[in-house]
Amino acid sequence: MPGNLPAADTLARRASTVYIWRTMDPDRLLRELMEFLRIPSVSTLPAHNSDCRRAAEWVAAELRHLGCRDVQFLSNDSHPVVWGVGPEVPGAPTLLLYGHYDVQPPDPLEEWTAPPFEPAVRNGRVFARGAADDKGQVFCLLKAIEACGRPPVNFRFLIEGEEENGSKVLFDVLRREPRRTQADAVLVADMAYVAPGWPAVYTSLRGICYAELTVRTAESDLHSGEYGGAAPNAHEELCRLLGRLKGPDGRINVPGIYQAVRPPTKAERALWKKLPFKESEFLTKRVKAKALVGLKRYSVLERLWALPTLEIHGITGGFTGDGAKTVIPAVATAKVSLRLVPRQSLRTVERQVAVAVRRLAPKYVTATVRFLHGADPAVIAVNHPSFALLDQAFREVVGRGTVAARAGGSIPVIPALRKSGAPVILTGIGLPDDRLHAPDEKLDLQQLWDGIAVFQRFYELLGTNGVEGNRRGKPSRGGEEDHRH
Ligand code: BES
Ligand code: MN
Ligand code: MN
Repeated sequence: MPGNLPAADTLARRASTVYIWRTMDPDRLLRELMEFLRIPSVSTLPAHNSDCRRAAEWVAAELRHLGCRDVQFLSNDSHPVVWGVGPEVPGAPTLLLYGHYDVQPPDPLEEWTAPPFEPAVRNGRVFARGAADDKGQVFCLLKAIEACGRPPVNFRFLIEGEEENGSKVLFDVLRREPRRTQADAVLVADMAYVAPGWPAVYTSLRGICYAELTVRTAESDLHSGEYGGAAPNAHEELCRLLGRLKGPDGRINVPGIYQAVRPPTKAERALWKKLPFKESEFLTKRVKAKALVGLKRYSVLERLWALPTLEIHGITGGFTGDGAKTVIPAVATAKVSLRLVPRQSLRTVERQVAVAVRRLAPKYVTATVRFLHGADPAVIAVNHPSFALLDQAFREVVGRGTVAARAGGSIPVIPALRKSGAPVILTGIGLPDDRLHAPDEKLDLQQLWDGIAVFQRFYELLGTNGVEGNRRGKPSRGGEEDHRH
């Protein structure tokens, strides 16, 4: 419990930490973060619907505590998007904060050192599902406002609860009410530093195409003694199909899939070379496997950031219970996803995958593809003046400015958030070893305290300097706009 926390080793290592703690009590902050982390808001599992709602309510209460007006839940389909309008600051720029309160499923549970929804601090780190992705970072954005005392900019909030499941609700909201994204800048903290001590902003995100492939070979399961040797086996056929979709060299065997893909520019490659990233360390410290795989002609960063992927997430069907059952399964299903890189589009890739499956499956099986969710990739120019302010904030607080990197992950609504023309700043306060989506996800407390100080400073700089350049239409008028049409 946080009563005797934070441990001495996390205390006051930086001036920034001391600065925050003049106005904020770290014990209270930790207690509040843990309250948020204790809610098992797993968006993809219907059994957790009420937990997702509780997490949305937790966020809404925080927004009210920050003095927001017009705090509401947008949409009643599935998990609500929490909307808020911060106190009006006449003449100041408008900053939209985006984040998500939902988390990925925590399994395999037995691989966690402590239960995923009973947050625990060990060694100056808080361990819980959602600690880094994204509750801890949403917390950071919000507490940085509190740390400002009086907010220096006009805040807007879109905190959703379906990011980990394709963001359908928020897509619908933004289609109906595009004005919700109107702002001078959008800040998203759902990423990480590229290495300890190296904060980053991101110039691209991969898209995603998530699908279920089902193979049916017969009307029902069959006795494997009576029929084995002559009847087709759905699992065998599915495995062969999956094996054909990607070769052992890592090449995806979907016709046309590489057509739109372009290599990174020379300038980008030069930048990547300067990043503190070593392929050998990536293997031994992060992946912890015996070898890396994939297209050997390309550097690891290019494979992670600039090339599409195809991954199998799980295979179901047949017999997987305790003991032994001799059966030839009639149905087998694989959950797979492809990551898309800039210039690829979800619609095209869906079509390409459907065609490839039809072509690669033998005539005597029924192979079907069901697309569960997806997102286009995002490309972001980082030359808007607001990026320089974030760079300055990081420089002042952690001693190093931001490097421009790309990201392998996806945040489905980013392309939609860009539609109003405001620059979208993709950054984060996590570290590369936070184990997102995996057992023992964690957030270093020092990253959290630094993060609060960084965003607080960023808000102040934005409030003082404003943003020149990309401002669309009339300057913001605080919270007077009525977004309901
Ligand atoms: N925060 C991640 C995205 C991310 C992770 C970006 C690491 C950059 C580096 C986000 O919560 C996420 O996991 N998104 C999903 C989206 C999908 C389920 C639609 C993803 O990338 O798998
Ligand atoms: Mn996230
Ligand atoms: Mn995630």
